[in-house]
Amino acid sequence: MSDRLVSQGPTDEERSLDVSLRPRGFSEYIGQKKVLAQLEIAVQAARERDEAMDHLLTYGPPGLGKTTLAHVVANELGVNIQTTAGPLVEKSGDLVALLTNLEARDVLFIDEIHRLHPSIEEVLYPAMEDFKLDIIIGQGPSAKSVRIPVSQFTLIGATTRAGLLTSPLRSRFGIVHRLDFYTVADLTAVVERSAKLLGVSCRPEAAVSLAKRARGTPRIANRLLRRVRDYAQVKADGTITEEVAGEALALLEVDELGFDEMDRSILQTIMEKFSGGPVGLSTIAAVVGEEPDTIEDIYEPYLIQIGFLDRTPRGRVATERAYRHFGLTPVDRQKRLF
Ligand code: ADE
Repeated sequence: MSDRLVSQGPTDEERSLDVSLRPRGFSEYIGQKKVLAQLEIAVQAARERDEAMDHLLTYGPPGLGKTTLAHVVANELGVNIQTTAGPLVEKSGDLVALLTNLEARDVLFIDEIHRLHPSIEEVLYPAMEDFKLDIIIGQGPSAKSVRIPVSQFTLIGATTRAGLLTSPLRSRFGIVHRLDFYTVADLTAVVERSAKLLGVSCRPEAAVSLAKRARGTPRIANRLLRRVRDYAQVKADGTITEEVAGEALALLEVDELGFDEMDRSILQTIMEKFSGGPVGLSTIAAVVGEEPDTIEDIYEPYLIQIGFLDRTPRGRVATERAYRHFGLTPVDRQKRLF
């Protein structure tokens, strides 16, 4: 489904738009204050010593700006950034090529770093630790291992699944930060900033209204803004007022919590088909027709954060708050045992 609001990564169109909306420095970056405060110190210290910054791992739900932050850090360090993603590095030679092309203090950004193949991950260990690569030349009994130096660099890894990272890799990051969902106030500021950059007039109440429906996620806030901008242009005079935003959001079927049809489908499946749970992730996935990983990585973190869903050892459980939102009555848990 291409027009889902809560889909995995950015679309190609968004990638280019995101680049234009992306903050370039710490001063433009909204939210994640505690993370930023620590990174500003790490960046300044590295600059003053003329050294590469310590390796940085960022993790958290998609759309919270892990890629953006990597670019901001590289800009603030005043160095180049090379970017790749775990699934794109197919052979260890691909990684060797990336590493040997880095200049002193450059940043190498690896998105979805948990998806690096273990044999490729091993190339990273000596590179991260000693700025050396162990390369095997030749095959069979005459094969030789040679050590070659690489420039001092900073690896920035990003993942939605910190739990899937191997401990040797995780332990080689000197700085580790979890990105949190954004507050409505921060998202309002993101919407207002993006509206300005897009040259669209957006009333403050309308910006709040979009922010409230953005599931704590700047990428979704910007996605909503672009759709509402289209609506305002076609159905009104181009200005995004609260009324125009409300009409557009109703048309998009985004409710006041920012749920899309998949959120509703997941929760209704648990409540209506499985008496509120516990029910296993793969069962929910089969009923709603979505990949278990997508449900776990993209949908559940927000549903858990707003207190609609619990993960228990026996499966997923819908909370009372979820029942209230949908106007349903919770099944009595005691009675369900019989
Ligand atoms: N656009 C997307 N994320 C942003 C952020 N954190 N700050 C400013 N603009 C953004």
